[in-house]
Order: sequence, then C-alpha cells, then structure tokens
Amino acid sequence: MNRTIELVKTIYEIKQLESLDEPQIALAGRSNVGKSSLVNRLAGRKSLAKISSKPGKTRSLNYYRVNPDGFYLVDLPGYGYARCSQSEREKWGKLIEAYMTANPGLKAVVVLLDARLTPQKLDLELTSYLRGLGIPVIPVLTKSDKPKQRERAALQNQWKDILQQPRLPLLFSSKTGMGEDKLWNVLAEYAIN
Ligand code: GTP
Ligand code: MG
Repeated sequence: MNRTIELVKTIYEIKQLESLDEPQIALAGRSNVGKSSLVNRLAGRKSLAKISSKPGKTRSLNYYRVNPDGFYLVDLPGYGYARCSQSEREKWGKLIEAYMTANPGLKAVVVLLDARLTPQKLDLELTSYLRGLGIPVIPVLTKSDKPKQRERAALQNQWKDILQQPRLPLLFSSKTGMGEDKLWNVLAEYAIN
C-alpha cells in the first residue's frame, strides 16, 4: 500500500488535548532512542520529524496522520532526559499521562528501546504502567543496525524476558529500513481493531 504521513497537530499543554475519533498509536521511549527517526523512516522522508544527536529534541506531542488508513501516529517527547529542569520534566510527565489515560482512541503504544543498551529502569516503568492501564505495548528495538547480526536474536529474547510482554520485540533500524514492513503490519493490525 502506498502510504503518506503528514503532521497535522502539535500539542504543548494538557488543555490543548482533545479527543479524536480516529485510532491512535503513540511512540514512546527514552530521549534519543530514535522515535522521530522512526517517523521519518515510515514516512520515507528525511526531515518530516526533527531529529537530533542531542537528547530532548521533541518537546511536544506531534500527531501524524497516516493516509489512507486514517489513523494517527503520535510522537511523544522522550523521557529520562536529565538535562532539563525538574519542573519541565514533571510537566511532560503529566502531559503524557493525561494523553494516555483519558484517550479511548489510543489503541497501542510502540515502546522504543535502544538495542545497544541493557534494559533501563524507565523502560520497565513505562511498560508496567501501560500494562496497568490495559494498553497494548508494541516493543521495538531501535538502532538494530548496531548489534552484530548473530547477536540480534539473543537480544530479542533477552528483552522479551525482561519486559514480560506477549510480543517479541521487533528489530528495527531507521538507518537501514530493517523491520519496516513488519512494523507497518503490526501498526495496521492495532489501528484497525
Ligand atoms: P527525542 O526527541 O530527544 O526524545 O529523541 P528521539 O527519540 O526522537 O530520537 P531521534 O530520532 O531524534 O534520534 C536520536 C539519534 O539517534 C539521532 O542522532 C539519530 O540519527 C540516531 N538514530 C535514530 N535511529 C537510528 C537507527 O536506527 N540507527 C542508528 N544507527 N542511529 C539512529
Ligand atoms: Mg524526537
């Protein structure tokens, strides 16, 4: 299917949140894990979402409409970015929480995990938080071009054990396109149901 992705809305504050009828799938993960790069890869465009080698680039909720499917991919600000002030971090935390809790259109959350790192406390906190809310988690190992091919399957299994999610984490690379087709299939599956 020939899909296009366009940015339709950017939100900075809780009061700007409004309920949408269309299904949404959010992209969450620590700062710098590659959320915005994933949007660009899926869109087939280099600079639709702004990316940076420095963490803390995305500071708003960005709603991307996927056509012709009609669902939204929502790029969230990264968590765990130490350089910003405590009050700013709390503000983002509240915004993300408000988005996730009062949102019947939210079908699943893609949790992006850095394939080069060991699982981090914040990743596990997020996945168990989502489990508590009953929101399905789609685990995705980003930067999977980095580990050696023979290590990748072992990595997937290690992460699966730790996350305790039903899905085997998907190997993905925005750089090479690894896992792109599989991810589209999973997104469509959740967005439609
Ligand atoms: P915040 O907006 O700060 O939360 O970060 P983000 O999760 O949106 O990360 P972003 O997409 O801005 O990417 C962060 C850095 O990782 C950039 O330097 C990207 O080029 C790099 N990167 C992202 N995806 C990949 C990938 O699949 N492979 C490799 N090798 N590098 C990647
Ligand atoms: Mg970003």
